[in-house]
Amino acid sequence: MTAPGSTAGNSAASRDKAFVLHPYTNLDVHETQGPMIIERGEGIRVFDDGGKDYIEGMASLWCVSLGWGEERLVQAATRQMRQLSTYHIFGHKSHEPGIDLAEKLIGLAPVPMSKVFFANSGSEANDTAIKLIWYYNNALGRPEKKKILSRQRAYHGVTVATASLTGLPNNHRDFDLPIARILHGDCPHHYRNGLEGESEEAFATRLAEQLEALILAEGPDTIAAMFAEPVMGAGGVVVPPATYFAKIQAVLKKYDILLVADEVICGFGRTGNFWGSQTMGMQPDILTCAKQLSSGYLPISAVMVTDAIYRACVEESRKIGTFGHGYTYSAHPVAAAVALETLKIYEERDIVGHVRSVAPAFQGRLKALAEHPLVGEARGIGLIGALELVADKATRTPFDPPGRAGALLNGLVQDNGLIVRAMGDSIALCPPLVISEAEIHEVFDRLTKALYSAVPVLRG
Ligand SMILES: Cc1ncc(COP(=O)(O)O)c(C=O)c1O
Repeated sequence: MTAPGSTAGNSAASRDKAFVLHPYTNLDVHETQGPMIIERGEGIRVFDDGGKDYIEGMASLWCVSLGWGEERLVQAATRQMRQLSTYHIFGHKSHEPGIDLAEKLIGLAPVPMSKVFFANSGSEANDTAIKLIWYYNNALGRPEKKKILSRQRAYHGVTVATASLTGLPNNHRDFDLPIARILHGDCPHHYRNGLEGESEEAFATRLAEQLEALILAEGPDTIAAMFAEPVMGAGGVVVPPATYFAKIQAVLKKYDILLVADEVICGFGRTGNFWGSQTMGMQPDILTCAKQLSSGYLPISAVMVTDAIYRACVEESRKIGTFGHGYTYSAHPVAAAVALETLKIYEERDIVGHVRSVAPAFQGRLKALAEHPLVGEARGIGLIGALELVADKATRTPFDPPGRAGALLNGLVQDNGLIVRAMGDSIALCPPLVISEAEIHEVFDRLTKALYSAVPVLRG
């Protein structure tokens, strides 16, 4: 019998096409184009199989805070592999790496938190948060209070429930999503959704009023929680307008609606504070985090809950018996050991202080590109940012068809030795947090060169 793909040849690229189903990839294009194969990483750079180097301007999907080749993380993983390579924490079992990491995270939390639940990805963390919210409201005898608020252009993951929270069309279309009981409110993007002459503060007031109208239309007793990224990432890096979260939280409090801060991208220094919640003045009831928790070296995520939520879950568990939720790899000891070492390095090297010291150079170069003929808006905070490309700067008219300009620039940037991510016609940047000021200039030199080479193509 011939194995599927056995006629594909032996190169990695042809075997990739034969055997790999790629996440977030145009599957049809991939059949002809094939993969870009990354072989190794060093510092802020990765190298492809032809030896060409790229600055990883996205820290490999918003993850690799410490860059590649951090030997201490390798050693932490190796030590833990030797001592206890795997074990679960179901049914009253536990182990020190999991316990230490939970204690550490509770100590670092931006508001008083009580317990940490571990998962393996941002999606699983947010999925867990939804389940905890439902469990909590059942415990409180509020079976109707179950709807979850999210926002247009939010990104909270890809499981059935978290893809439903995500407010991007490709995550719903033909996956038969969203599921019931998920509501999408307005995206707080002043450049796109603000009215002519409307200040950021007035825009934030209007968004809070619209949120309240939505809650009242649905019935406050049916709404359990709102999920929000401090700064929206995959929706195109949207920094909310001044006063936004203060006004939104006042509405949520009024109707006894929980706030979940999705810190999967913003957590661990990205925005210039340890948590995005601190930068944005959020006081979450639940906080989810992942990615930079382990510098992306191993999959691990965490959900922190307040004591009120934890206590209600204990009550429910008293009635039911087992709290029927958990992943085989919750608090995986090797991932937990690597996360602990990551947090130790953040402290020793004052990663937040470093971000604050280099962010002005990053934001300065980014915002200067707002003058470029193709750029409608340059936005960002800390070490995260995006450029939104437009066909007409004065009228903010997008390119037609949407996404073509972003994809074109993405390719040109890559040819110039820089990896960024196109989200429609916005180009995101989110480099490793350890990036130096000189490296930031290299990033923007490469990006600027690519932008100018895109002008004749896009402007014809
Ligand atoms: C804000 C946010 N939440 C959740 C997720 C989902 O995380 P994962 O891809 O690890 O499931 C992501 C992924 O990028 C994210 O940016």
